[in-house]
Amino acid sequence: MSDRVIIKEVAPRDGLQAQPKHLTLEQRAELIQRLVAAGVPELEIGSFVSPKAVPQMAGTDQLAADLPSGNVAYSALVPNMKGYELALAAGVRTQAIVISATEQMNQNNIRKSLDDTLMMAEDILDRARDEGVAIHAYLAVAFVCPYEGAVAPEVVLEQAQRLMAHSPERLVIADTIGAAHPREVGALMSDLVAAYGPERLGCHFHDTRAMGLANVFAALEAGVRQFDAAAGGLGGCPFAPGAKGNVATEDVVMMCEAMGYNTGIDMPALLSAIGALSDMIGTPQGGRAHYWLSKQSA
Ligand code: COA
Ligand code: ZN
Repeated sequence: MSDRVIIKEVAPRDGLQAQPKHLTLEQRAELIQRLVAAGVPELEIGSFVSPKAVPQMAGTDQLAADLPSGNVAYSALVPNMKGYELALAAGVRTQAIVISATEQMNQNNIRKSLDDTLMMAEDILDRARDEGVAIHAYLAVAFVCPYEGAVAPEVVLEQAQRLMAHSPERLVIADTIGAAHPREVGALMSDLVAAYGPERLGCHFHDTRAMGLANVFAALEAGVRQFDAAAGGLGGCPFAPGAKGNVATEDVVMMCEAMGYNTGIDMPALLSAIGALSDMIGTPQGGRAHYWLSKQSA
C-alpha cells in the first residue's frame, strides 16, 4: 500500500468559518500563501455560501481570482447549486459538497431535508461530470449528529453507495463534531475501502474529544490515505454545536512521518504559517508538534 499520505489543508475554510474574529481578504490570502509555501498538496480556500449565513467566508471569489501558483490542488466548499455556479464562475475546478447523514443536520446546515440534499448532490455530481469539475462529496455527521445522536453505519454505507453511483472524485467521511472513536472509524472505513478502494476515499476528523489522531490512525490502518486537517487545529462548524477544531495538520504530519509515511509538507514552514495564523486570530493556535519540535532544537 502507498506510503504517501495526502493532506487536504482546510484551515482557510473549516478553520476560519466559525471564528469570532473575521479575517480580512488580505489575511486570508496571506494564510493561503504561507500554507502553499509549506507544501500542502491540497488546500480548501473557502466556501461559496450565503454571506448572511457565514460572513467569515465572504469574498472567496476574490481569493480564487488571485491564488499563488504552486504544486497544489485548490478547492472550495459549496452548499448548493448556486454555490456550484458561483465557484465555477470563479474558476474553481474542484468543489466540496456536503451531505449530512441526518435530517436535522441538513435542516440546520443548509435548510434542506435529507432527501432534497441527496437529490441536490446527485444533480451537482451529474452536472460536474459533464462540465469537468471534480467533486469531493462529504458525508457529514457520519458517526454522531449533534441533533439526532448516533448514526448507524448502515445508514452511511447506503448513502455512500447512492453518492458513489454518481462518481464523485472523492467521498469524504466526516466526523463533523469530533465524536467518533477509532474502533468505529476503523470498521466503517474498512467496509468502504473494501467496496470502493482507497483512492476514492478520504476522512475528515475533528479533535473535540482528543481522538482526532487516533481516528486518523484507525483510518490509515483501514487503508485510507487522504485526510483533511487544519493548520493549528483550527476549526468548527457554525451549525453543529459542540464541534471543536479539526485535527491539527502539524500533528497529522508528525505522526505520519514518524510512522514512515511521506506527506511532502515542510514542517518549519508549516509552523511559521501557524505562527502567522495565531497573530491574525489573536490567540495562539497549535497542536502538539510545535511544543515537541521546539524542545528538540533547544
Ligand atoms: N452563495 C451565496 N449566496 C447564496 C447561496 C450561495 N451558495 N445560496 C443562496 N444564496 C443567497 C440567495 O441568493 C438569497 O439571497 P437574497 O436574500 O439576497 O435574495 C439568500 O442566500 C437566501 O437564499 P435561499 O436559497 O432561500 O437560501 P437559504 O436562506 O435557505 O440558505 C444556504 C441556504 C445554503 C445558502 C445557507 O444556509 C448557507 O449558505 N449555509 C452555509 C452552510 C455552511 O457553510 N456550513 C458549514 C460548512 S458544512
Ligand atoms: Zn469540519
